[in-house]
Amino acid sequence: MIQRRIGIIMNGVTGRMGTNQHLIRSIMAIRQQGGVALPNGEALIPDPILVGRNEHKLRALAEAHKIERWSTDLAACLANPNDSIYFDAQSTTLRAENVKAAIQAGKHIYCEKPIATNTSTALELAHLAQQAGVKHGVVQDKLFLPGLQKLKRVIDSGFFGRILSVRGEFGYWVFEGDWQEAQRPSWNYRKEEGGGIIVDMLCHWEYVLHNLFGPVKAVSCLGATHIPERIDEQGNPYACTADDAAYSTFELEGGIIAHFNSSWCVRVYRDELLTIQVDGTHGSARAGLRECKVQSRVNTPKAIWNPDIPNPIDFYASWMDVPDNTTFENGFKAQWELFLKHVVCDTPFPWTLVAGARGVQLAELGLRSWQERRWLDVPAIPTELE
Ligand SMILES: NC(=O)c1ccc[n+]([C@@H]2O[C@H](COP(=O)([O-])OP(=O)(O)OC[C@H]3O[C@@H](n4cnc5c(N)ncnc54)[C@H](O)[C@@H]3O)[C@@H](O)[C@H]2O)c1
Repeated sequence: MIQRRIGIIMNGVTGRMGTNQHLIRSIMAIRQQGGVALPNGEALIPDPILVGRNEHKLRALAEAHKIERWSTDLAACLANPNDSIYFDAQSTTLRAENVKAAIQAGKHIYCEKPIATNTSTALELAHLAQQAGVKHGVVQDKLFLPGLQKLKRVIDSGFFGRILSVRGEFGYWVFEGDWQEAQRPSWNYRKEEGGGIIVDMLCHWEYVLHNLFGPVKAVSCLGATHIPERIDEQGNPYACTADDAAYSTFELEGGIIAHFNSSWCVRVYRDELLTIQVDGTHGSARAGLRECKVQSRVNTPKAIWNPDIPNPIDFYASWMDVPDNTTFENGFKAQWELFLKHVVCDTPFPWTLVAGARGVQLAELGLRSWQERRWLDVPAIPTELE
């Protein structure tokens, strides 16, 4: 098979997401499988250059994965015409400036969400990319979760009848860092560093709802900082200035009502870290990261409220698994492959920086709704910006 190289500048790759999801499970995995098969029979081989601040970390990461190229000089990397894609998984506050520089250098852009910390900057990035005529995309990994792909299949089959409501439950206990190490970076709990669960998760809920059920028309959100102090990576206490839980309700086009609880202060008593229940007139589904179960109208037990007797119905028993019927890839890798094909073959890729801006907009409106204690309408952002 003829091999074709594509150079990718990977910035922020020493971080949690950059290393695990993007470098190891996506780019290295694609290289190990022999590249991305293109329609013309060629194999597209990603050739990454790792970029960051810390020379030691970069060298160690490059050596561990037998990657030849790394650099602490982003400007020099952007000036190299042999690398056509700029990828960014840095902390959110750093993204916009570097994405702008990359667009200016004519690079195609792929980046983590949120694409920026506010809507006007997010729209500016999308606009600049459209004007420059470069290809652009944002990570929307939840759409590629096996559980959500199965849910999409259930929706497309017409199983639900009329969909009434969507309930999302997301989260787990993130340790404070005193007697057990925290499993998330401390910047997540500092507003001034781009932290906060509203900024983090409402971006995800926007594209999940938009792609599966329809655009969000209005939002009401109540945030909270339940844990006021945590311990950072150096063992020092710090004040949590960002929200660590969000209780948000969304009205969707077409009348569906969605409610998502997102929290880093909740102990898990459910099948998976994310569960989404959908209720429709003809059936219901419960989807998680990997699984999806359904209960149809004819399998619905008749519940009768009576606390005076032990519960007579095993409510779980009448739900059925939706089968895999396919092999599910890691979601980040699956989306990378689609983006790479989009860059070289112009195949469709709907998850652009405009989609990324919609996520930032919903997060920003969620924060404002909390601050102002009221519902807010979500203005539609057209796919082609003026
Ligand atoms: N898609 C998802 O599900 C998902 C999940 C978690 C995080 N994220 C996003 O990914 C991004 C990174 O998150 P993470 O959890 O990997 O964080 P992290 O703290 O582990 O990594 C941050 C990266 O940014 C770099 N960085 C930080 N400060 C810097 C500075 N001053 N100059 C240059 N580089 C700097 C770090 O070296 C590191 O490479 C965030 O934007 C976050 O919102 C996405």
